[in-house]
Amino acid sequence: MKSETKIIYHEEQNVFHLYNEEVSYIMMVLPDGELGQLYFGQRIHDKEDFSYLLELAPRPMSSCVFPEAKTFSLEQIKLELPTYGSSDYRTPAVDILQPDGSRILDLQYEGYRIERGKPKLAGLPATYTENPDEAKTLIIELHDQKAGVKAEIFYTLFAVGGLLAKSVRYRNVGQDTLRLQRAMSFCLDLPDADYDWLQLSGAWARERHVKSRPLEMGIISIGSRRGHSSHEHNPFVVLKRPSATEQQGEVMGLSLVYSGNFQIQAEVDAHHTTRILAGIHPENFCWVLEPGDDFQTPEAVMAYSTGGLNGMSQLFHGLYQKRLARGYWRDRVRPILINNWEATYFDFTEQKLLQIAGKAKECGVELFVLDDGWFGARCSDHAGLGDWTPNQQRLPEGIHGLAERIEALGMKFGLWFEPEMVNMDSDLYRTHPDWILATPGRRQSHGRFQYVLDFSRQEVVDNIYTQMAAILGDAKVSYVKWDMNRSITECYSAVLPPERQGEVFHRYILGVYDLYERLTTRFPEILFESCSSGGGRFDPGMLYYAPQAWTSDDSDAIERLKIQYGTSLCYPVSSMGSHVSVIPNHQVNRNTPLHTRANVAYFGTFGYELDLNKLSAEEIAEVKQQIRFMKEHRALLQFGTFYRLCSPFEGNETAWMVVSPDKQQAIVGWYRTLNQVNADFTRVKLCGLQPDILYKNDHGESAYGDELMNLGLITTDVTAGEIPSDKKPCTDFESRIYVLEAVDSAQQ
Ligand code: GLA
Repeated sequence: MKSETKIIYHEEQNVFHLYNEEVSYIMMVLPDGELGQLYFGQRIHDKEDFSYLLELAPRPMSSCVFPEAKTFSLEQIKLELPTYGSSDYRTPAVDILQPDGSRILDLQYEGYRIERGKPKLAGLPATYTENPDEAKTLIIELHDQKAGVKAEIFYTLFAVGGLLAKSVRYRNVGQDTLRLQRAMSFCLDLPDADYDWLQLSGAWARERHVKSRPLEMGIISIGSRRGHSSHEHNPFVVLKRPSATEQQGEVMGLSLVYSGNFQIQAEVDAHHTTRILAGIHPENFCWVLEPGDDFQTPEAVMAYSTGGLNGMSQLFHGLYQKRLARGYWRDRVRPILINNWEATYFDFTEQKLLQIAGKAKECGVELFVLDDGWFGARCSDHAGLGDWTPNQQRLPEGIHGLAERIEALGMKFGLWFEPEMVNMDSDLYRTHPDWILATPGRRQSHGRFQYVLDFSRQEVVDNIYTQMAAILGDAKVSYVKWDMNRSITECYSAVLPPERQGEVFHRYILGVYDLYERLTTRFPEILFESCSSGGGRFDPGMLYYAPQAWTSDDSDAIERLKIQYGTSLCYPVSSMGSHVSVIPNHQVNRNTPLHTRANVAYFGTFGYELDLNKLSAEEIAEVKQQIRFMKEHRALLQFGTFYRLCSPFEGNETAWMVVSPDKQQAIVGWYRTLNQVNADFTRVKLCGLQPDILYKNDHGESAYGDELMNLGLITTDVTAGEIPSDKKPCTDFESRIYVLEAVDSAQQ
């Protein structure tokens, strides 16, 4: 049966039921005219009357809405757009300051409309449909007459999978100026609190580690006030039933398609109901809505699965790969690249770059990326940002000349930019000192000696666009790495009036999106990779413009196990920039085998971040083999169905795998952090295979899918602790790749 989204309006009860094969979302217009929610979860049958799901009880201390009734308190009701100051004391989703100083709102249901597919969000990244049957969108209109404000809540339910996108648009329809002080994108009230909360948190070079804890009465909240989504917390959380595992059980993931300040929180009240809120961080946010003005919130996406964490992740992977990422590179395997950053840092000449590129070409690398240091007076991190013209001393014939030489070697050429930044030692700053975000008369904190350009200003974005477009239009550039290496401080725009300073953070990110949109439109075949000191802006907002992101500045394979494992909860393999780097590793000084470095990097976009000229002949032979392997298997590795099998957060072994859509092929990555003596026998239970297919692997073994999934792939390492004369010693940081191929039934 064809999957389809249904949106039913039961007029008599004023009830809406959105559903597909997987989920149901039921709402009703409440007796007081607000919009309430009755159910969200696994699909249930539609029927005429769901109003009995509105639970009311007389509770002595409750504040009540109707003069004659003691049961109708908003405190007990699941609300779609809760407001400040009502009989609901939980955190509101919206807060509007009105001219009389009041913040009370009464958003009354006014009507609804249904659209096939999914409308675009002006100026903001969002998931999309290519064909109107892929989703339906319910738009519910609410109106507060006294304040003169209308709210439209957008609910898009995709036809396939439990995927729901939600956002809100506000409009000032009155005569007075309004101040929007809180405008969350998503609110969901759940009837119980029996969940574990998972978040992806960390810091620079250890981003997106999985942290979990049970929900408890009170508030759990994550967010960013740094101006970018941040290394510290990713705009993503999971609520899972305590019994749910990677492979089974009820799981909900919530992801915000936004790259700026955000907040996601869960609030458990005294009666163990849970309110989830997600959106722009309300601190220091205040948007002035003049009569006639609109404000569109970013979009939040919920993925609901009864197939455990892997089931939820696969929903996000599919959606973000196919209906968030766009353009030429969306469905294409990614070029194998070499990046000169860890090979040279700022210390390079054109000749040195060509040597690195030449050796890489010999090994089969397809794209050479020139990182930081090619422009203006950029010989260290003290100068040059903002001046996007080639440094003539280093590159006598500019980017144009270097790109031609790289192309002549038979490779593509890529280039690093940090568009949003400026050093004080730059011509741009000397000409426009007021173009940075800085509060008049206050300290100007720096990060890595650089300052943040005021991207809330059109002329600033225009200037950077003109500079970048000149380089990209003139030279053969096939790839851009777009970096962002500091957080915002003393946020203030020189051109906005005092009452609009609360808009700067959001206007800044809209400026970033605008520049991305213009560059990706003008240069549609350039592959953009986003970056923010590694993974400081690894979020769905960026994936709309750049289908891949540099996952972390930590390139050590063992550190990357945790980082890539955590990242995979929400983001697809094709989005994770992952490179083989030198040993001792530059971040943690660790020595890992060359094959383990590649075995981790295969589950990503794959590339090298070292000078291959410094490797031995034996290592070069291994690198050539790695590149051949990646070219042969990258379509499956980057676009296959990904399963996490063993978590690096739980034990000494990590494992994950990808399976082809037809289940004829699979690749398993197995990694053991420390070697053991007198070790256990070990097996890894695989997932997603066809039970009755016989698979043979490249280690000479064959087994049926059911055997591999129920009994497991045997990973026991007989060499651990003992070194057979014909084998290399097995070390710490060992790993293996297993390539599984279905044996043709005729051969069985
Ligand atoms: C950031 C990036 C690195 C590199 C440097 C260059 O830290 O994450 O990969 O590009 O900037 O300055």
